[in-house]
Amino acid sequence: MAINVKTPRDSFGSRLGVIAAAAGSAIGLGNIWRFPYVAGENGGGAFLMVYIGFIILIGVPVMISEFVIGRSAQRNPVGAFNSLAPKTLWPLTGFLGIIAAFSILAFYTTVSGWTLEYLYLAITDSFKTKTAENLAMSFESFRTSGLRPLIWQNIFMFLTAFIVYRGIRNGIEKYSKILMPLLLLIIIILGIRSITLPGAGEGLLFLFKPDFSKITGAVVLEALGQSFFSLSIGMGTLITYGSYIGKNVKLGNTALSVSAADTLIAILAGVAIFPAVFAFGIAPESGTGLVFIALPLIFEQMTGGYFFALIFFLLLSIAALTSTISVLEVVTAYLSEELSLGRKKATLLAASSIAVLGVACTMSQGPWSGISVGDKNLFDLLEMISANIILPLGGLLIVIFVGWHLSKEKVFAEISNQGNLKAGFRYLYLFIVKFLAPVAIAFVFMHGLGLFRFFGSGD
Ligand code: PFF
Repeated sequence: MAINVKTPRDSFGSRLGVIAAAAGSAIGLGNIWRFPYVAGENGGGAFLMVYIGFIILIGVPVMISEFVIGRSAQRNPVGAFNSLAPKTLWPLTGFLGIIAAFSILAFYTTVSGWTLEYLYLAITDSFKTKTAENLAMSFESFRTSGLRPLIWQNIFMFLTAFIVYRGIRNGIEKYSKILMPLLLLIIIILGIRSITLPGAGEGLLFLFKPDFSKITGAVVLEALGQSFFSLSIGMGTLITYGSYIGKNVKLGNTALSVSAADTLIAILAGVAIFPAVFAFGIAPESGTGLVFIALPLIFEQMTGGYFFALIFFLLLSIAALTSTISVLEVVTAYLSEELSLGRKKATLLAASSIAVLGVACTMSQGPWSGISVGDKNLFDLLEMISANIILPLGGLLIVIFVGWHLSKEKVFAEISNQGNLKAGFRYLYLFIVKFLAPVAIAFVFMHGLGLFRFFGSGD
């Protein structure tokens, strides 16, 4: 606890600030860029059903567990496990989170760089009169071009480091509180425009009509991975944020509100994108370019499209930024607390070492695409490994830790704010983290990786 004496821990200033910052971390490219394309590749409606099931049954409890660990230990993920379970192997769970932070930020800043390019294209009114093919082609040539996406990526990394360096209350919290509600509003407007396009109904059917024959072990694992990725859980981001949460904040309510907002935005992104995808004849499984092709087409069809495109890409970049800062914060808090580096040095070291991997990721989209494992380049590999392997594994360890290592009294004290709240959900929560979540995650995980077969073909 010596660190607390020298420098008082930074913290969130208000309950709303906590929700905004955690929602800022959760809501990002995962909702608007990744959710639609992963759903598109994995069967649409059926994927959505499984996804929502995971959010409610596993995601919310894992999120509460991260808050419990972080707030009770008052440390970064590695330090938290060290202080709650000294002289055990548990701190390795924290290290797994550090590895996840590196892999996620590397590819995430590549895509964040794309959003900056699209913001630039919106400002210069470059979507006008483009057809779906034109847009697909220009996205492809930009994505694979090497230098330009690299520049945007590094500008983005610089912005992230700048905010993290400024700290919690004045940096992260302040921006999240204003910008997240604005993003919600604009996605609703886009959704309305999209569902009123001729031929939009098919897109809504694709998104909402479940076809359970599409569900295989691999699809279920994708849904689990996407739910963890989208909620920012399984790697200690919310352990870190939890360590800045005040003692009077209700952890259960916070986790519920954040998860509900996150899911709402993902579904609305789907409602904005799929009707347009079908109306303009784009293939729903067209992968990472889906948002960058479908949305500009909607903007072209809207009165005031120029204006909407501009604020949309601005807000998307900001949503990405409130997520990247939460990931960088994990590594920064670790370096500054465990290795006693100053915040400035810790931020610089974290950002620059991750940027190296990030550069390789962006280059793997084009100039270095030859370097691959199977059909996956570095970008695809890091995305797959972090979302479908590291996060579920981290989530599994986190619930086992709270369910089996921490005492029931400690956990109940934390979720009831030392007995000041009723926390009527505590027995259900304990049952989930002790039994249901570990079994479900382990099952989905092994099945999805093809380690055993129970249903579907697994591919
Ligand atoms: N949840 C973020 C998104 O949906 O865009 C991505 C993310 C942020 C993943 C933080 C993991 C994390 F720790």
